Amino acid sequence: MLDTMRAVDEEFATDVLAGLGSSQKTLPCRWLYDERGSQLFEEITDLPEYYPTRTETKILETCRGAIAAAAGPGATLVEYGSGASVKTRLLLDTLDDLNCYVPIDVSAEFLAETASQLQNDYPDLSIVSVVGDFLSPIAVPDEAQGSGRTIGFFPGSTIGNLSNNEISEFFGRARRDLGDGSSFVLGADLKKDVSRLIPAYDDAAGVTAAFNLNILKRINRELDGTFALDRFSHEARWNEDASRVEMHLVSQIDQTVSIGNEKIGFEQGETIHTENSRKFALEELVQLAESEGWTMSKVWMDEEKLFSVTMLDAA
Ligand code: AVJ
Repeated sequence: MLDTMRAVDEEFATDVLAGLGSSQKTLPCRWLYDERGSQLFEEITDLPEYYPTRTETKILETCRGAIAAAAGPGATLVEYGSGASVKTRLLLDTLDDLNCYVPIDVSAEFLAETASQLQNDYPDLSIVSVVGDFLSPIAVPDEAQGSGRTIGFFPGSTIGNLSNNEISEFFGRARRDLGDGSSFVLGADLKKDVSRLIPAYDDAAGVTAAFNLNILKRINRELDGTFALDRFSHEARWNEDASRVEMHLVSQIDQTVSIGNEKIGFEQGETIHTENSRKFALEELVQLAESEGWTMSKVWMDEEKLFSVTMLDAA
C-alpha cells in the first residue's frame, strides 16, 4: 500500500515539474481527479450548463435495449475508466444473463469501493476488477471470459481527453484486447455552437473553476507548493483548429511559485493548460475507429444532436 502511494506521489511530482517546466505550461488532466476533484466532477455532472452527462444517460436509456439485443446472452462487459460505474447500471439492468463485468480504472481504491457497492446491488453478478490505465494494454482476465460476446464500454466522452494519436492507439489496443467478434459502445460529445460549449466548462456557480483550481491545492498539499489560489483564474477556451474546449489556469500577476525546492516563474496572463475536451464530428470518429479495425454499426443521438453513443463491431 505504502509503496504504491510513494510511486504515485513520485509520478505526480515528475509530471508537475515537467509540465510546469515547458514553454506552454501544462498539467496532465488525470491529476485533476483526487478525492476532492472527483467529488467536484460529480457536482459538475449535475450543473444546468453541463449537458453531456444527462444527455448521454437519456440516450443510453433509449438505446440499451438495442445494445442488449446486439450483445446477446452471456456477454462480458469491459468498461474503460469505470469510475463510479453510474451509467453502467443502465446496461447491467438490461443485458441478458451477463457473464461478467470487468471495470478498469487507475484508482485501486475507487475500484474496490465501486465493486463492493455493485456487488451489493447485483449479488449474482460476477465482477473482475482490473487496475489499469486505459492507455496501456489490458488483457481480459481468463476467469472473466465466457462463451458470449465481449463488449467494450467507454462512456462519458472521456475519449475527448485524448489526442488523435492516443485515440488511434486506444482503438487499436481495444480491438486487440477485446478480440474477434467483440463490440464496443462509445459515448462521444459532438461539435456544436461555441456559445453552448463555453458555459458548460465555465458555469455560473463556479464549480468548474473550483475543479480546475483544485489541482493547485493538490500540488500545495502533496508536493509542498506555494500556489496562492486567488492569483490564478479559471478559463475555458475554444480551440477551433483542434476542435476542443481547453481548460487553463491564468496567472493574474507576475509571480514566482515554489514547489519543494523548485521555483517556477509566471508572467501576468501566462496560463497552465490543464485539460482538453475534444468535440467530434461523427465522421471523424468513424474514421479514427475504422482505421483501427472497427466498423460502426449503430449510432444513437439525442434530438439536438448534442451527444452520440455509437456501437462499433470488430471488423
Ligand atoms: C470527464 C473528461 C469527459 O471533458 O467534459 C468536465 C471533464 N472537465 N468539466 C469533460 C470535465 C470540466 C469531462 N470528462
